[in-house]
Amino acid sequence: MLKVALVVGTRPEAIKMAPIALTLRRTRGMKPLLVLTAQHRRMCDDVLKVFNLKPDYDLDIMKPNQSLFEVTARLARRLESVLRDERPNIVLVQGDTTSTFMGSLCAYYLQIPVGHVEAGLRTYHKYSPFPEEINRKLTTAIADLHFAPTAVARTVLLREGVASKHIFVVGNPVIDALLHVAKMDYPFTDPKLANLDLSQKRVITVTAHRRESHGKPFVAMMRAIKKIVRMHKDVVIVFPVHPNPNVRQSVERMLDGVDRIVLVEPLDYRQFVKLLKISYLIVTDSGGIQEEAPSLGKPVLLMRNVTERPEAVKVGAVKVVGTATQRIVEECDRLLNSQTAYRKMVVRKNPYGDGKASQKIVNIIARHLGKVVCQ
Ligand code: UD1
Ligand code: UDP
Repeated sequence: MLKVALVVGTRPEAIKMAPIALTLRRTRGMKPLLVLTAQHRRMCDDVLKVFNLKPDYDLDIMKPNQSLFEVTARLARRLESVLRDERPNIVLVQGDTTSTFMGSLCAYYLQIPVGHVEAGLRTYHKYSPFPEEINRKLTTAIADLHFAPTAVARTVLLREGVASKHIFVVGNPVIDALLHVAKMDYPFTDPKLANLDLSQKRVITVTAHRRESHGKPFVAMMRAIKKIVRMHKDVVIVFPVHPNPNVRQSVERMLDGVDRIVLVEPLDYRQFVKLLKISYLIVTDSGGIQEEAPSLGKPVLLMRNVTERPEAVKVGAVKVVGTATQRIVEECDRLLNSQTAYRKMVVRKNPYGDGKASQKIVNIIARHLGKVVCQ
């Protein structure tokens, strides 16, 4: 039995690792070991429930308003003990969070091979996104198998000296998760959404959470949201607010009680995908949403200065608009007023895959570990 440990810390890791865990579960000769660091508590629990997954280990590391130092230190001690006891054949990490980086570092300290899902994303800006850009680079330095979502990511890894035989372009398993969930119609459980009258209204979904935007950029972004809703009487803004207290305080202070702005708790993945499907436009700083939106034909205005996902920009589905109030308002205005501009951003081609990434990843791991075991 080949034991594959999946380290999962935050909401996007849970969404992107869930289809891999499910594929491993039904693969003969392979056994997933789901190690939930719970860097995110409720948001990860919500995702695992949607996919009917239970962690084998729950490291329960989240504390309110945790610092990077605290998270890193707690992860080191708790991951060490699980990985020492279990000695998996490989540790799989996903993306760019502190759980991702520490998962790979702890595996390396125990000389366990590492597979990196969503490898090769870069902005080449050390502090944007922060600390994700460096988490990715450090994870690349440690990983043995690099699962690149696209040919662009593969090129990045080659340029950094990763051997071509260790890079596999497989797509991003977020599309596997999305296609699985998008088929379901699931009712909104929050009465604020369930009772929303959307006849004659256009929904703009907003999310924001990035650490490099906390403080002034956040205030500018929230001002823009407020202006947009005031300028367009047919617009309703639905904003699932990230539980990070730095985010929550700004959002609630500036937007709570504003007419046609609906602030809700983070939605479970089924309900969030439903919200995306009924949206006219998405305004966000999220990484994962840039990958999902092209499959749903929804334009994204990205409230960041740079992106590590140039493929979505190239196909026309995502536009990087920065964090300044004026520019965000102008770009929203354009998409609300001009059908020509809007239609240009409605693409149905997704550069991040076809929903088959998980199976490809599992096959590659089986081949690689098979070889290792036979030697
Ligand atoms: C983390 C990741 C970021 C990722 C994001 C996805 C790091 C450093 N950051 O950012 O890369 O894009 O997740 O959302 O790895 N909280 C809760 N309940 C939850 C989750 C979070 O209350 O279910 C609150 C807690 O107060 C926690 C805080 O949010 O301390 C911050 O969580 P943390 O994981 O440190 O950072 P994020 O900003 O969520
Ligand atoms: N998401 C969700 N509920 C929400 C908001 C987002 O399930 O209320 C999903 C979204 O579809 C995407 C992922 O969470 O798959 C993105 O998470 P986030 O923006 O927090 O992190 P990032 O992708 O920026 O690291």
